[in-house]
Amino acid sequence: MPTYPPPAVTFVRGSGSELWDDEGKRYLDFLGGLAVTALGHAHPAVAEAVSEQARTLLHVSNLFGNVVGPDVARTLDRLLGGGGQVFFGNSGAEANECAIKLARRFGGRGRYGVVSTYGSFHGRTLATLHATGQPAKHEAFQPLPEGFTHVAWEDLDALEAALTPDVAGVLLEPIQGEGGVRPAPPGYLQGVRRLCDERGALLMVDEVQTGLGRTGAWFGFQHAGVEPDVVTMAKALGNGVPIGACWAREGVAGTFEPGDHASTFGGQPLAAAAARATLAVMEAEDVPARARAAGERLTDALRGVAGVADVRGPGLLIAAELAAGHDAKEIETACRDRGLVVNAVTPTALRLAPPLLVSDAEIDEAVAILAAVLEDDALEKSPTR
Ligand SMILES: Cc1ncc(COP(=O)(O)O)c(C=O)c1O
Repeated sequence: MPTYPPPAVTFVRGSGSELWDDEGKRYLDFLGGLAVTALGHAHPAVAEAVSEQARTLLHVSNLFGNVVGPDVARTLDRLLGGGGQVFFGNSGAEANECAIKLARRFGGRGRYGVVSTYGSFHGRTLATLHATGQPAKHEAFQPLPEGFTHVAWEDLDALEAALTPDVAGVLLEPIQGEGGVRPAPPGYLQGVRRLCDERGALLMVDEVQTGLGRTGAWFGFQHAGVEPDVVTMAKALGNGVPIGACWAREGVAGTFEPGDHASTFGGQPLAAAAARATLAVMEAEDVPARARAAGERLTDALRGVAGVADVRGPGLLIAAELAAGHDAKEIETACRDRGLVVNAVTPTALRLAPPLLVSDAEIDEAVAILAAVLEDDALEKSPTR
């Protein structure tokens, strides 16, 4: 169905930070499948785990046990501080849908509201679409499920006013990803935590894009030192194999009862095997540290590029705000023509989310391509030309 514009390029193969199209042209992938392929394409450990699992047991129903899903749940729980429980789905939207249902179950009758922030992105199912703070995306799909309100990003007073007794939880990204890579300002998440505690609402952090090392910490909220009640993740968890997870702390997760929520494929052996291998490599390689170091190199290099006005975002979730006169969509296209995949996250900013194992040489090559593209664009648009 025409939910996406016709593709400009068709990729047929990938390895690490590189992609090849159907005409054999090579690209540097600085988008990573939209922050998905954190270990790069065709990572041997993930490929081996997936093929081994395919030969052993692809799927069993959640009416029965399997050994792989619980392994992944234990690792995630450990990375999140322990004591919680995990529900597996197949995507970020499903992870958030689980969080929303859990908040309603925890809140009890009459306490069903979810507050999220303008500029956020939480998914495309009807509930997660309504949680997404982008009214233009709601227009065509009214009426949306009830119980969702939005407040300005970074505005604690607005949040306080929105936390009425019917609110069960607050859902937010620690760094707005689709909204343009906008990190929470210092003190914001701590303030949200305090308000949630005062009003008895759950703090639910959407780590679908920011989680699992991307920002230089295992999870984006850890930069602020807060402890959320619910954490959702997906994208990087299977390094490209679809899997999503909703973690909740002790005392919250247990409010679900058998029959309250389910997913045929959630936590099934194949997806879980990909996640188990991905997490094992992530821990062995200490991807948060890699993201910090590589992110610093990339940020510093971008700051030196003529045509880049500002660079935002921690670790390897980066927005390069372009100087006046450049159109991010045009620059995205020109970069792609020269073999660099990036994404115009806003009309004036490019998003860079390369694999966390990206090499220094690849970073330097990508920045050189972008610098050349911006220089040509500036020349083309110069009034003296
Ligand atoms: C923060 C955030 N939440 C949720 C989603 C939705 O994830 P999915 O497309 O896997 O449903 C996305 C996707 O971009 C996201 O960035």
